[in-house]
Amino acid sequence: MPKILIIDDEKNIRKSLREILEFEKYKIDEAEDGLNGLSMATKESFDLILCDIKMPKLDGLELLNKLNEQGIEAPIVMMSGHGTIETAVEAVKKGAYDFLSKPIDLNRLLVTVRNALERTHLVSETKALKKKVSRRYEMIGESKAMAGIREMIEKVAPTEARVLITGGNGCGKELVARAIHEKSQRCSAPLIEVNCAAIPSELIESELFGHEKGAFTSAVATRKGKFELAEGGTLFLDEIGDMSLSAQAKVLRALQENKITRVGGDKEQKVNVRIVAATNKDLQKEIAAGNFREDLFHRLSVIPIHVPSLNERKEDIPLLAEHFLTQICTEYGMPVKTITKEGIKALQLHNWTGNIREFRNVIERLIILCGKAISDVDVKQYAIPGK
Ligand SMILES: Nc1ncnc2c1ncn2[C@@H]1O[C@H](COP(=O)(O)OP(=O)(O)OP(=O)(O)O)[C@@H](O)[C@H]1O
Ligand SMILES: [Mg+2]
Repeated sequence: MPKILIIDDEKNIRKSLREILEFEKYKIDEAEDGLNGLSMATKESFDLILCDIKMPKLDGLELLNKLNEQGIEAPIVMMSGHGTIETAVEAVKKGAYDFLSKPIDLNRLLVTVRNALERTHLVSETKALKKKVSRRYEMIGESKAMAGIREMIEKVAPTEARVLITGGNGCGKELVARAIHEKSQRCSAPLIEVNCAAIPSELIESELFGHEKGAFTSAVATRKGKFELAEGGTLFLDEIGDMSLSAQAKVLRALQENKITRVGGDKEQKVNVRIVAATNKDLQKEIAAGNFREDLFHRLSVIPIHVPSLNERKEDIPLLAEHFLTQICTEYGMPVKTITKEGIKALQLHNWTGNIREFRNVIERLIILCGKAISDVDVKQYAIPGK
């Protein structure tokens, strides 16, 4: 039930607003002056505040300023009597959600209240989503190996240095790249990701550098490339070891000169992007085999970060299990399941060739197939079939 605070010095107005709004199933609190209103609004959280303008002690506008200062997030609707319309307009400029003029029209009151509450709802939903997203990219683990990675990220992120992240499948390379961007001075600009393995070699150039209209048959319109989209931010070149040699040559040029040219274009343009690259291949081997350019390797690998495999940090398995149990059960909207000590031990005995990705899948499978408390028998039966 949404909670509304009514601040007005006229008892009759408070009473009639209360009656109307309670009839609409809102929960109502009242304050008879600005000072009282301020103290109530700071002590308790309301979904909406209706506030008179002309009041003794602290008037509506002063109250609005104070509420803003205190970071009160509830939308505030001002109520203006005769002769205070200009003040009401000023209040809206200062961040009030809206104003109602007295005598208050019933329909307008209800519409305004509904809209304001809708906004409150959207704001809190956005917050919850943001939190969910940031938890999604949270890096779990207290092992020495993870501490080393964290320390490295802290040191490297604020610099402009290029970073090459290596490590096996699903070990968290992308998480490291995101953390570097988030902790860098570029964090308010975008992080643009390119999966170099997923793009056919004849398209990669246009993907990275963009193209001009008519540059090739399907180029029906001018299109920006990922370098341009990442302007001011970070370009994450994922699976760089799978990039064709011809694309490597072009990327090398872009990195050397900090300039790009759109496909089919003749104008060079300066770009300001930080490159973070990742691969699960052994690039030294690829260089020896002639599949990767050594000069590009040195350009990319100013700071190499190797992400340890899960097998190298099995002491993190209890924390990871708890993290994914909570995350996945919450996603499914079910009560969070637990895993027994023996169950954890069984997980620690497994050879995790697919690293955290495989681990997460196994936890998801166990959640679906097992009861409330997952045991070692469950782990042996479902997690590691055939082993
Ligand atoms: N330390 C960690 N804590 C929590 N979750 C993690 C951690 N490391 C990885 N994950 C999760 O594991 C999954 C795989 O991670 P990510 O995509 O970063 O791996 P990757 O090394 O880029 O994999 P690939 O080699 O397949 O590209 C993701 O769902 C990620 O959120
Ligand atoms: Mg990846």
